Amino acid sequence: MSENQTTGKPIQWFPGHMAKTRRLMRENLRLVDAVVEIRDARIVRSSRNPEIERLTKGKPRVILLNKCDMADEAVTRVWCDFLRKKNLITLPVDCRSGKGLNQLTSALREACAEKLERNAARGMQGAPLHLMIVGIPNVGKSSFINRMAGSRRAKVEDRPGVTRGTQWVKLTNGMELLDMPGVLWPKFDDQQVGRHLAYTGAIRDEIMDTEDLACTLLQLLAKKYPQMLAARYKLTEEELAVNDGWELLCAAARHRGMLVRGGEADTLRAAGNVLDEFRAAKIGRISLEGPEDWRDETAESDT
Ligand code: G4P
Repeated sequence: MSENQTTGKPIQWFPGHMAKTRRLMRENLRLVDAVVEIRDARIVRSSRNPEIERLTKGKPRVILLNKCDMADEAVTRVWCDFLRKKNLITLPVDCRSGKGLNQLTSALREACAEKLERNAARGMQGAPLHLMIVGIPNVGKSSFINRMAGSRRAKVEDRPGVTRGTQWVKLTNGMELLDMPGVLWPKFDDQQVGRHLAYTGAIRDEIMDTEDLACTLLQLLAKKYPQMLAARYKLTEEELAVNDGWELLCAAARHRGMLVRGGEADTLRAAGNVLDEFRAAKIGRISLEGPEDWRDETAESDT
């Protein structure tokens, strides 16, 4: 488990309802035809919870790389190709604007081809597809459901066999989405996964050291997107070349006029600013991870 850099205390990543969420998923899986797994396109590796694959084994799955409006387009394309080569049907989407979601029906048809054939053979062509929506916190599950359901969002009445607390959302195109409460954090012993989740705001800043976080983010951006970073914070070539997070933070603070008494850089304020601007994609469209970062500890399915 990772430590808070300031206090040295272990960070409590798992708020306790994980077991309940797992149970809900297992209990409700038999009620759905397919699983829609949402990940963050900027951190495709770190926003993946390998448990989802294990828990939903045997169900057709479509992976949505959400927030693609904030991610590097070229990297998102590479991710889609990479995952498709593993036989994972993957779509880049932006659930805020709805971009890409018009491809979902055909992706689901592809994923559920066998089921749809069986339905057709039984004369049940129009039977609605039932979908389970899963993903770690903050990837955009609620945004996806709201966007798909639109203003006509309507709850489907309670059904036998559905655990209380879960909710069916009926869509105008005939699909039904299972909206489940609970959280499913990835189990990250890996510091990098924790950091990447924190950069994107998936982990609350209150439990993090924001200066430390901003320093490591700046260092990563200086390596991956030097031009965007330099342009945003008016960094000189020399400042960029230092490759030291603290120096980069001080330079960003100075160029923004964020100073404390005595003319020193106000690093705490600058850190908050850097994190906010990254999260709002003001620095640019940035992907922190590409398939080259993939470490196949728990092999992702290619069946
Ligand atoms: P969750 O249910 O999986 O926890 O995620 P949720 O939909 O609550 O989305 C988390 C944040 O991500 C929200 O921002 C949401 O607006 C934003 N978001 C979701 N999908 C997209 C997307 O495709 N593109 C962009 N740019 N943002 C997206 P928030 O700041 O927490 O809330 P709000 O300011 O939108 O109310």
